[in-house]
Amino acid sequence: MSRHATIVLVLLFLTGGTAFTQSPHGAAMKMDCSACHLPDSWNIPASFWKNNALAPNDKVSETTDNTKKIFQHDADTDFELSGAHAGADCRSCHATLVFSEADPACISCHTDIHRNTVGDDCRRCHTSYSWLVDNITELHNDNGFPLLGAHATANCNACHISESGLEFNRIGNACVNCHDDDFANTTNPNHQQAGYSINCEDCHRVDVPMWSSEGILHDFFPLTLGHDIKDCRRCHNSGSFSMTSRACFSCHQDDFQNTNSPNHVSAGFPTQCDLCHTTAGWMPASLQNHDQMYFPIYSGNHRGEWNACVDCHTNAGDFSQFSCTDCHEHNNAGELAQEHRGINGYVFQSSACYSCHPRGEE
Ligand code: HEC
Ligand code: HEC
Ligand code: HEC
Ligand code: HEC
Ligand code: HEC
Ligand code: HEC
Ligand code: HEC
Ligand code: HEC
Ligand code: HEC
Ligand code: HEC
Ligand code: HEC
Ligand code: HEC
Ligand code: HEC
Repeated sequence: MSRHATIVLVLLFLTGGTAFTQSPHGAAMKMDCSACHLPDSWNIPASFWKNNALAPNDKVSETTDNTKKIFQHDADTDFELSGAHAGADCRSCHATLVFSEADPACISCHTDIHRNTVGDDCRRCHTSYSWLVDNITELHNDNGFPLLGAHATANCNACHISESGLEFNRIGNACVNCHDDDFANTTNPNHQQAGYSINCEDCHRVDVPMWSSEGILHDFFPLTLGHDIKDCRRCHNSGSFSMTSRACFSCHQDDFQNTNSPNHVSAGFPTQCDLCHTTAGWMPASLQNHDQMYFPIYSGNHRGEWNACVDCHTNAGDFSQFSCTDCHEHNNAGELAQEHRGINGYVFQSSACYSCHPRGEE
């Protein structure tokens, strides 16, 4: 190009003239050429861009009109040049120089090393700063498979098996997907013979590092309170965990027979201990359906007015007996009789009190 031609071109250029025919950037680009180009050459040296392509460097500011708009990728496009992108040459992303042809999706420039096992939204796990991933914990949590217990220390490729170690084909969270051999090989107890479910989580906690008894879940019969017993054989003494009855009486028959305060046998108590007891302890007892079945003691006028069952059932050997008059006796001669004056059939007898006041009300 002759010197003369260069001057013409520079003039056109600086006056914002129609140099568009020259443009390799496509007809659609309406930006002023001088927002990026210097007067002396179409080539733009890498050093032109300050902060690695973000803005023209000082040399440019000296020679250009500072009021002129200078192209800035972050501000003027929808694609921020951060991390490793900040240092990259324009042409490495805009090979055609038709800038609008660049696609902001990571996968348009980077190979999906995972061979489509995690989808094409790379931003879920990566940024432009590095391919290293720091959200492994969250990823597993979000997938409903927190890495707990032995899983926290296992190698990635113990679960994610692929040649590159970078393919994450769906495995599925069910324990048996990875532990079917362990299940088949159990001997103590032999799970298959015992007919155990393959939902390992029914019995095995996942947040402990092994299969042993410390990690056994027992929610189907909670081992809490009086049943917080470490030695499984206290309840499973037949050599097998199966066929264990959950009826209280099956294990607490002796306790029942040995009671004396009150003597449950002579009191004629039913053997469903849980009518009156919880595993919190034998004392105090609480017969919650007493109110519906017999007489309100947890509600109504007598709520909070008695301390022990024997306040009414004064003969602990026979709960079909009861006394009202032990408490209401002080009124016998005086007020009580007064209040019942004129009431036909009034007698100072508990059974009479009960038949006229079956709910303990007036
Ligand atoms: C957003 C910034 C920007 C704008 C605006 C811009 N260019 Fe460019 N232009 C570039 C870049 C970057 C290159 C590549 C430079 C390099 O590789 O050294 C380039 C290269 C060129 C080239 C050389 C092509 C080649 O194959 O080497 C010409 C000619 C050119 N531009 C013309 C224009 C004209 C004419 C305009 C105004 C209509 C214009 N440019 C506007 C950024 C721009
Ligand atoms: C790491 C890749 C990358 C680098 C490096 C890069 N760009 Fe871009 N650029 C893009 C992407 C992607 C878009 C598209 C953004 C969108 O449309 O959402 C874009 C958009 C643009 C646009 C707007 C295009 C339009 O019409 O919307 C211009 C102009 C541009 N880049 C110029 C440049 C210049 C000049 C450089 C060098 C200083 C550069 N780019 C360096 C990726 C890059
Ligand atoms: C328009 C093309 C383009 C797009 C879109 C793009 N990149 Fe890049 N990326 C590049 C180029 C070019 C480099 C620089 C390579 C080099 O340094 O030689 C790069 C470098 C990187 C690097 C540095 C490590 C390496 O491979 O060199 C990472 C990490 C990266 N990109 C991640 C991303 C992520 C994440 C996205 C999506 C958010 C993305 N890139 C989108 C073109 C692109
Ligand atoms: C669900 C998360 C996830 C998604 C989505 C994802 N990756 Fe990855 N990627 C990883 C993990 C995990 C690694 C291993 C890096 C590590 O251990 O820190 C990795 C590593 C990489 C590496 C480096 C490989 C090496 O040799 O070290 C590249 C390149 C990569 N990913 C590209 C991509 C691209 C491209 C996409 C989008 C198509 C993508 N990734 C989507 C999780 C993901
Ligand atoms: C004990 C087994 C186990 C270990 C160890 C493990 N993972 Fe996973 N990972 C899973 C399971 C299960 C999923 C849930 C998705 C599925 O069904 O495959 C998963 C999901 C993922 C996903 C995909 C997430 C998504 O949203 O697409 C990535 C990526 C991943 N793991 C990477 C890793 C990396 C990296 C390590 C090592 C640091 C690792 N995993 C260790 C079992 C494991
Ligand atoms: C994606 C595969 C995978 C899934 C799903 C999985 N595990 Fe694991 N698990 C492993 C790997 C790998 C190890 C470590 C290597 C080993 O000991 O087998 C392990 C170890 C264990 C251990 C420790 C074994 C020992 O004694 O060392 C227990 C207990 C365990 N897993 C329980 C579970 C339970 C319970 C579930 C279901 C909630 C489950 N796992 C789901 C892969 C998995
Ligand atoms: C009905 C409850 C139950 C279920 C369901 C269950 N287990 Fe077990 N498992 C046990 C008990 C109880 C033990 C013995 C614990 C102890 O006392 O050491 C045990 C022990 C084990 C052992 C160690 C004992 C041995 O012989 O190797 C492995 C391994 C094991 N279970 C794997 C599994 C796997 C895998 C699953 C699911 C596919 C599973 N279990 C489902 C109750 C269960
Ligand atoms: C307080 C008594 C008690 C203790 C202690 C106890 N269990 Fe149980 N267990 C039961 C009862 C009752 C059942 C039956 C529950 C049912 O059928 O609903 C049962 C059922 C089981 C089952 C299910 C058997 C099957 O065939 O489905 C397993 C496995 C089991 N227990 C394991 C254990 C282990 C391991 C321990 C020690 C950590 C233990 N149990 C401690 C009372 C107990
Ligand atoms: C499979 C056997 C088994 C079954 C079924 C069972 N228990 Fe137990 N229970 C025990 C064992 C073993 C103990 C440990 C103390 C002992 O030896 O009495 C215990 C302790 C208790 C205690 C604590 C005793 C104390 O001295 O503190 C109470 C209360 C109790 N059980 C109530 C019940 C009730 C109520 C039921 C029915 C819902 C029930 N149990 C069912 C085996 C069983
Ligand atoms: C109708 C209610 C009722 C039923 C059913 C019942 N109990 Fe009781 N139990 C009591 C009362 C009342 C007491 C005395 C505690 C109190 O006053 O709070 C008691 C106390 C006890 C005591 C401690 C007192 C003593 O004499 O040792 C034991 C042990 C006991 N019960 C075991 C059992 C067992 C085992 C069963 C089931 C097989 C059972 N009970 C069923 C009401 C009941
Ligand atoms: C305020 C008085 C009162 C108190 C306190 C009381 N009861 Fe009763 N209970 C009665 C009355 C009244 C009946 C009805 C008697 C009848 O139907 O013959 C009764 C009936 C019963 C019966 C049925 C007896 C049978 O053989 O029909 C049982 C069992 C019983 N009570 C248990 C208890 C227990 C356990 C407690 C303590 C938790 C308790 N009661 C506290 C008043 C009381
Ligand atoms: C442990 C002592 C005690 C025993 C036993 C007892 N009561 Fe009461 N009763 C009370 C107390 C205290 C009140 C509340 C008095 C008040 O509200 O002023 C009361 C209230 C009443 C009332 C209501 C009085 C009113 O003002 O409305 C009647 C009716 C009654 N009792 C009947 C009975 C009958 C029937 C029995 C026997 C089945 C009985 N009581 C056993 C202590 C007892
Ligand atoms: C034949 C039926 C009958 C018998 C038996 C009976 N009562 Fe009454 N009782 C009544 C009637 C009716 C009233 C209501 C009187 C009124 O409102 O003036 C009453 C009132 C009461 C009151 C409330 C008095 C007040 O403060 O206003 C109490 C307490 C009471 N009875 C307790 C007893 C006791 C304790 C016995 C047994 C010794 C008993 N009653 C026997 C019918 C009876």
